[in-house]
Formats: sequence, C-alpha cells, structure tokens
Amino acid sequence: MPVTAARVDNVFFEDQQPESGDSRAEVIAGLEQPQKRANPKYFYDERGSGLFEQITRQPEYYPTRTEMAILRRHAGDIARLCGRGCVLIEPGSGSSEKVRLLLSSVRPAAYIPLDISAAFLYQSALKLGREFPWLQVHAICADFADRWYTQTDLPAGRRIIFYPGSTIGNMEPAVAREFLAEQRGWIGADGAVLIGVDLDKPEDVLNAAYNDAGGVTAEFNLNILNTINRVAGADFDTRQFSHRAVYNKPLQRIEMHLVSEISQTVQVDGGAVTFASGETLHTENSYKYTLEDFKALVEAAGYTLQKSWLDDRRLFSVHFLSVRDS
Ligand code: SAH
Ligand code: AVI
Repeated sequence: MPVTAARVDNVFFEDQQPESGDSRAEVIAGLEQPQKRANPKYFYDERGSGLFEQITRQPEYYPTRTEMAILRRHAGDIARLCGRGCVLIEPGSGSSEKVRLLLSSVRPAAYIPLDISAAFLYQSALKLGREFPWLQVHAICADFADRWYTQTDLPAGRRIIFYPGSTIGNMEPAVAREFLAEQRGWIGADGAVLIGVDLDKPEDVLNAAYNDAGGVTAEFNLNILNTINRVAGADFDTRQFSHRAVYNKPLQRIEMHLVSEISQTVQVDGGAVTFASGETLHTENSYKYTLEDFKALVEAAGYTLQKSWLDDRRLFSVHFLSVRDS
C-alpha cells in the first residue's frame, strides 16, 4: 500500500491513502443493491469535513456542544481514570476540537488523530501541534474500519481509544460491537476506551438536529455525490437529488437518504445506474442508544463499563470502558 509521510516539528503525518484500494468497487456494489446505499465515510472529503464542522455549530445539532460540556465538566475525573502518559488515539478525529478539552489534565505521551479526510486531517494536526508544542501528534490518514498501523514506533504507555461524537452510532449495532471487540487487540489488556454516545430521545428533537433550518446537513448529505463522482468515475448531478432525514423509531436510528427528484440514469464507471422518481440512495444511519442498550453492547464486546457521564437533560452520554479480564 502506498504511504507518504511528513514531519513538521512535533507533528508527524502518515497518509495510508485509504481511497486508493477498493473504493470504486465498494461504491458500485452499494449502487447495485435493491435499496441503493453509500458508505457514510464518503461524506468526508475536504469540503465534507468543513460542512460537518458547520453542522456542529447549528442550533438544532445538540450533540457536539452537549458532549463538549460533559468533557469540560469531567476532565479531571477522566484524567484520573486514564492515568498519566497514555497514548490516546482518536478514530475519526475531524478537527480534533474535543481532545483539547482533555489535554492539559490527561497529559498524554502522544495523541494519534486518525481520519479518512487527508487534507483536513493534515491541517487539523498542524494546528493542534502548534497550540500544544509539548504534545507528540502522530496523524494517520486511514480507514478506521481497517486494521490501522504506523510506520514508526509509538511511545510506551497505556493505550486509550478516544471515540467521541457518537461516530459509533454510524455503524449497525452488530458492527459496532465487532469494532469495539477488535480494538482490544490494539489497546491490550490494560487498555481503555473513552466513548461518546448519543441517547434515544423524542423524535422532534432528533428530526430537527438532522434537518437544520440553515440547510447545512442537506448540503453535507448532497456532497457525498461529489465524492462518489470522484472515486467511482460517476456523473451524479446534485441538483437532481434532495435531502431527507427521518427518525426510524423502531430501529432507533436517524436515516439519511438522497431522494431522486426525477427518473434518471447516472453513468458510473462506464455503466448505467437508474433511479426512479422518488427512489432513494441511503447515505447514513445514526443510531441512538438507551443506557441499557449501550451497556449490553459494550459488555458483549468484552468491556466493563467503568463510568458514565451525562448532561443534565440526558441528551448525550460519555463512557469509560476498560477491557474485561477474560
Ligand atoms: N471525532 C470528531 C469528529 C466526528 S465526525 C468529533 O467528535 O467531533 C466523524 C469523523 O470520522 C469525520 O472526521 C470523518 O472524516 C471520520 N470518518 C468517518 N468514517 C471514517 C472511516 N471509515 N475511517 C476514518 N475516518 C472516518
Ligand atoms: C459523525 N456522525 C456521528 C454524525 C451523526 O450525527 O451521525 C454525522 C452527521 N450526519 C448528519 N449530521 C451529522
């Protein structure tokens, strides 16, 4: 696999070029399903990462500010559970905004932001490294669903996965359980996971969060077509699709779709994909958990739920998981 690397002061950057592999085949396979679908990782090119940052500032999108308030409030408690000198990895690190709330109390030996969005990751890592000159930042551009590796040695220290944002909610629960179980191999028996999970709640609050009045989530959703055009040689026209996000209550998930406005044929990798008028491309699920469901999931993945923190309105939760002795 091709890898490029660069170092600037305390920031090391490794690009494992996750899109160079089977992306084209994966996109085409999704478009051939009876319910057409796309992997939500394709939201995140440089523009998509910027749009996600804008979503986090929309008044209706409560998860980011709520989780940040929890982390700010309990940073001391979290630091005691982590212990000094840990190696903190954040799969799907985005702007690395949340880790800033923990750095001065946790004082990790290294922070590893890992993200699929190369240019955005590079800029975010450089910015963080400049703000925290004492911190070793080791950025990796990779797909977190693959087994990650690094070219260089990481410092010794307890390995802790920081997985905020309810990014786990974008996986099917069975996949989430498997993902968490697999991470035990990387963190080892004394490792831990600090994870943010969005909670089930009245559907009007959820529907509003994914249908912001500013239209930013709609733009973010439509942007997946631009990535698909690039990675799969397609010619989707974003003007012929519209955003739909709705809470599927029985399955406890927000579903995002792109609805075809007309009956149309799209060229993909030299082949043709047809959409009936009103047919949808399913772009994302965002599962919402009850505390009981999430506890059961982490226990099935081989962890002990050591501590949970919630905001006063019980909108969002943060959990500290340790690997269970087997
Ligand atoms: N952790 C940050 C960002 C969450 S947004 C926060 O809590 O605010 C989700 C992030 O995961 C995005 O930055 C996106 O680029 C990244 N991402 C999504 N799918 C990914 C994948 N399969 N591999 C690596 N990164 C991924
Ligand atoms: C990254 N992920 C947890 C976000 C979510 O809420 O599911 C992505 C997002 N999709 C629409 N708005 C935000």
